[in-house]
Amino acid sequence: MKYTELTREQLEKEYSVIRARYDRLCEEKLSLNLTRGKPEKKQLDLSNDMYTALNNCDFEMDGIDVRNYGLLDGLPSCKRLFSDILGCSPDEIIIGGNSSLNLMYDLIAKAYTNGLLHSERPWCKEEKIKFLCPVPGYDRHFNISISFGMECIPVPLHEDGPDMDIVEELVKDPLVKGMWCTPKYSNPDGFIYSSEVRQRIASLDTAAPDFALIWDNAYAVHCFDGTLPEFPDMIGECRKAGHPDMIYEFASLSKVTFAGSGIAAVASSKDNLTHIRKILTFQTIGFEKVAQYLHVKFLKDKETILKHMEKHAAIMKPKFDAVQNALETELGSLGIADWTHPKGGYFVSLYAMHGTAKRINTLCADAGVAMTKAGATYPHGYDPDDSNLRIAPSYPELPDVIKAMQVLCVSVRLAALELLLGKLGG
Ligand SMILES: Cc1ncc(COP(=O)(O)O)c(C=O)c1O
Repeated sequence: MKYTELTREQLEKEYSVIRARYDRLCEEKLSLNLTRGKPEKKQLDLSNDMYTALNNCDFEMDGIDVRNYGLLDGLPSCKRLFSDILGCSPDEIIIGGNSSLNLMYDLIAKAYTNGLLHSERPWCKEEKIKFLCPVPGYDRHFNISISFGMECIPVPLHEDGPDMDIVEELVKDPLVKGMWCTPKYSNPDGFIYSSEVRQRIASLDTAAPDFALIWDNAYAVHCFDGTLPEFPDMIGECRKAGHPDMIYEFASLSKVTFAGSGIAAVASSKDNLTHIRKILTFQTIGFEKVAQYLHVKFLKDKETILKHMEKHAAIMKPKFDAVQNALETELGSLGIADWTHPKGGYFVSLYAMHGTAKRINTLCADAGVAMTKAGATYPHGYDPDDSNLRIAPSYPELPDVIKAMQVLCVSVRLAALELLLGKLGG
């Protein structure tokens, strides 16, 4: 029963059935939230033992007392932990506090105040800076660019990564100084960049000498279904392709231990890190090392991390299954929506009928289900198709995910029917 093939009479009939379903859901006075990708409490509880270790510990690691000043760029053992995850060398890593997003912001801020290693001048002295934004993407990436006054250029993101024909053309413009990438389990589609796309990215011939590839490997170990896809070290790939200083890779333990209280790292060429360290000496005596110490003691190495992530997966997978199940059952045959089928990360991307995403947002909100704002996955919140919605099922408990998905699916149907019947916006 494709909605687009129904007669007006059939559409009207379906509309009254779905409208009645929607009204009944509204009567339940729900208060559910599918907005941000936060771990739920059970996932956080998985890491409580990290802090019980505090009762009986010596605070010594790598020959130093981690409670005291020292080691500007992090504990060597913590660098080894991240190098285990990313595949690069420990001396290509700076450990930098609790948040990778903060590190990304800080890199851009440094580019503006001081310039990057190969900048001809600080970015604040440039008349204009453009950044490539694969869409849909992570709103907070785009908002960093926007907050510095950059022009965000949307580039379509396909299942295997950004549209490289377009990217290769755009980087011929010297004003294009970087690109945001979430290469594994992209936010929100959950796509994994293919090796061909990664190779083309590493080989990018950019007109800007200080082009910054922001390689946000936020979901490097966050697989909840099947085996984790392994990437060869991207810093090495860029070096091999002749662009050793183009890449800044970011990683985070926020969604391994405690969200916002994990450890974040930036990995890059040794020359880039020397440049960053020089600026960092004015900024801090050193980042928090007690948390680094505890994370190393608790997570040990990649093998232990992957075992830990299996426990996360056992909590996450039923919720993602519930999302897929609801979408398939409610929307599968109607021809009004497509969606992604990620096996890791924190999100599912829903593509509703063009022109209906904002209306779906409103319908969900009126029925007590908060969704990420339609358009949020595009720079300036502008989705030209008004179609994409990000589903974030991790935070609510499973029964709430199931209920929220009922509301979302009924809203997708209702909005499509309103559109087809000419009732939308009228
Ligand atoms: C792609 C991506 N990068 C970074 C972050 C934030 O990481 P952190 O907590 O380390 O700042 C998130 C959080 O949702 C994310 O989805």
